[in-house]
Amino acid sequence: MKTEIYNAKTQKENGTNLGGRLIRAGGLVAFPTETVYGLGANGLDGEAVNKIFDAKGRPSDNPLILHIAKKSDVKPLWRHVPDDARRLMDAFWPGPLTLIYLKSDIVPNEVTAGLDTVAVRMPENKTALALIRAAGVPIAAPSANLSGKPSPTTAEHVIEDMDGRIDMIIDGGPCRVGVESTVLSLVGTPTILRPGGITKEMIETVLGSVQVARAVLNPLQEGEVAESPGMKHRHYAPDCQVIVAQGSPRHAASIINREYELAEIEGKSCIIFATEQTKGYYRGRKYVIIGDRDMPSTLCAALFNALREESGKVDLILAEGIPAEDQGLAYMNRLLRASGFTVLNK
Ligand code: TXA
Ligand code: MG
Repeated sequence: MKTEIYNAKTQKENGTNLGGRLIRAGGLVAFPTETVYGLGANGLDGEAVNKIFDAKGRPSDNPLILHIAKKSDVKPLWRHVPDDARRLMDAFWPGPLTLIYLKSDIVPNEVTAGLDTVAVRMPENKTALALIRAAGVPIAAPSANLSGKPSPTTAEHVIEDMDGRIDMIIDGGPCRVGVESTVLSLVGTPTILRPGGITKEMIETVLGSVQVARAVLNPLQEGEVAESPGMKHRHYAPDCQVIVAQGSPRHAASIINREYELAEIEGKSCIIFATEQTKGYYRGRKYVIIGDRDMPSTLCAALFNALREESGKVDLILAEGIPAEDQGLAYMNRLLRASGFTVLNK
């Protein structure tokens, strides 16, 4: 299959109009959002949705998010719109917050992987909104990566994974947030299933307290049922080992330097994921600065690109852990998963 590549800046109208037509005709179109690139299909057409699973190699038990272009478009997708959802939509839509509630009959089982709930979000990216409007249907879209790989934050990442597998890629430049949306279930006690750009602290200003699913920062135990099927699967894995060092910046750096030396003695090549504050600890070693520890949003924005850059090039990535607060929760969730929960604290 030939994949058409369009630039959202220079071929704006043409790109989203063609994309919308392709989606209505049952095709697959990758598009930018403020979080990561999505791989879109007509969310009301089960057959079109099945093509997403084929193109990504995604396990069929992992449900998808429906993307809409205006708040009221959620109505036909849910059984009804609960008050909590209304308040959150007013506060955070358009934006990186996905809400899960009981699905209506028009949502195909292919989208929800057979669950009786459906995830919906209204992205804020202009190209994404224009594409959804042009399609005239909700767009089902997971991240546009091959299953298991880090999510794509540039069109180049999408091309790497999807060229020849899908109809079209719309290039809208790098994604602002860099990690996927916050996923919040409103069935029962509001629970964050996946942290993201809209933080727990922000949601609590609207709802009071919310829970965070245990699997956000912990590996699933044997026999434990995942609240979100996505938490079962290995995620964001680069083609090399990843170790996370926990503790104060100085302590984490001393663990990292020790492991770096040990690995070098074994003939392994290493890279350190450092921060502005800690780069001084790593003089003479190979490191990249991911961002600023005091602004975890900068770390989120850079993580997936850094994982893709080093994947296959080095044997070992040594990364600093940061406090799991505000956007640090999203950063640690992705980093821990990329490491397969390989953590050292001494
Ligand atoms: O930012 C994002 O959310 C991006 C962009 C493209 O919008 N999309 C994205 O989709 O990250 P995906 O499919 O890679 O992740 C969706 C997550 C998965 O972990 C899935 O298991 C969970 O949401 N999910 C979807 N529907 C669900 C449901 N009904 N119940 C529980 N979890 C659900
Ligand atoms: Mg994904």
